[in-house]
Amino acid sequence: MRIQAALVESAGGPFTLRDVDLDGPRPDEILVRLTAAGICHTDLGARQIWPRLPMVFGHEGAGIVEAVGSAVTTLTPGDSVCLSYRSCGSCGHCTSAQPAYCEAGINALNASGTRTDGSTTLSRDGQPVFGNFFGQSSFATHAIAYESNCVKIHDLDPVLAAPLGCGVQTGAGTVLNVLRPTADSSLVVFGAGGVGLSAVMAAVAQGCTVIAVDPVASRRAVAQDLGAVAAFDPADVDDVAAAVRDITSGGPQYAIDTTGQPAVISQAIAALRQRGTLALVGIGTTAQFDIMTVLTKGLQIRGVIEGDSIPQEFIPRLITLHKQGRLPFEKLITPYPFSEIDAAAQAAASNEVIKPVLTFG
Ligand SMILES: NC(=O)c1ccc[n+]([C@@H]2O[C@H](COP(=O)([O-])OP(=O)(O)OC[C@H]3O[C@@H](n4cnc5c(N)ncnc54)[C@H](O)[C@@H]3O)[C@@H](O)[C@H]2O)c1
Ligand SMILES: [Zn+2]
Ligand SMILES: [Zn+2]
Repeated sequence: MRIQAALVESAGGPFTLRDVDLDGPRPDEILVRLTAAGICHTDLGARQIWPRLPMVFGHEGAGIVEAVGSAVTTLTPGDSVCLSYRSCGSCGHCTSAQPAYCEAGINALNASGTRTDGSTTLSRDGQPVFGNFFGQSSFATHAIAYESNCVKIHDLDPVLAAPLGCGVQTGAGTVLNVLRPTADSSLVVFGAGGVGLSAVMAAVAQGCTVIAVDPVASRRAVAQDLGAVAAFDPADVDDVAAAVRDITSGGPQYAIDTTGQPAVISQAIAALRQRGTLALVGIGTTAQFDIMTVLTKGLQIRGVIEGDSIPQEFIPRLITLHKQGRLPFEKLITPYPFSEIDAAAQAAASNEVIKPVLTFG
């Protein structure tokens, strides 16, 4: 079928709306008409380096199921869904309730640009258009998704549902599934973007004392509005780690890095108290740390994908928390019409907005 998609045609190039062809669903596939799609910094980061172009990004979709393949048993046309990451369902990690670490996950199912047989779901004038990003490529009017990354939702505005699929799930899941702080503990969150602020609100909901660090004043203000007891500008304090230790009487038990920056990771390690845990969430390349500090403090450093979430279980839990007013992630969202995707992406890249969500009219 002919659809409209936001194509990236050169590395780092703009999103441009183009007519393309989308295959009908194969037996294990689900055709979804998008009603909303969030922009995550992973879309923007991947756009800079993606080797297979043209490419359609987008991995926080929400929409309505239009058709299902013959092997699909859990969804039917008309269902409202939120789209998340894809997993195989059969490897050791999937069968032990950790699908975020699926052996096929990162590459074959979420970030290859094609189906596992190498074909593309999208084409233009008979030429391949790469997609299948997180099993969706939801910067488009329609997407092909899979049972593992569709979560049925009820009575939720799609603009709110969309960012649950990655950003909110990742930040909140890092707190609620991985760190699990108690009410008498403290947490420092480095980077108050969509992921970091989702962590802030989940930790506040647990009664945890939260400190945020971010150079952007408007983001620090949101962190404090969400209940962080302090928010530091790293440019304002000589020693960020010392400032965090001071305000938490010797250092927090938990730290989350959403920046992926080596210097920030060093600050997190220096800030933590003995036997603390650092969750690495921000995408990065390499970092160095002082081995003796990690040893003598007995620190744990833990990489986290998608907040260790099982989307079909965790997203409904997040919706319940939202309905109770305990996870007010609507405060992070700025809606944009799909036709303004490039402006929305620029506003996210310049930190002007936190979580742009595209709407399909
Ligand atoms: N691990 C996962 O599963 C997963 C999932 C989603 C996103 N991500 C990644 O997480 C990261 C955050 O995503 P996001 O959408 O929240 O991005 P974002 O850009 O909105 O947030 C990052 C924040 O870090 C702040 N920052 C920059 N320098 C800083 C410093 N020196 N100290 C403290 N803060 C600083 C920025 O001002 C920004 O607010 C990205 O790298 C993204 O790709 C990872
Ligand atoms: Zn798997
Ligand atoms: Zn994401």
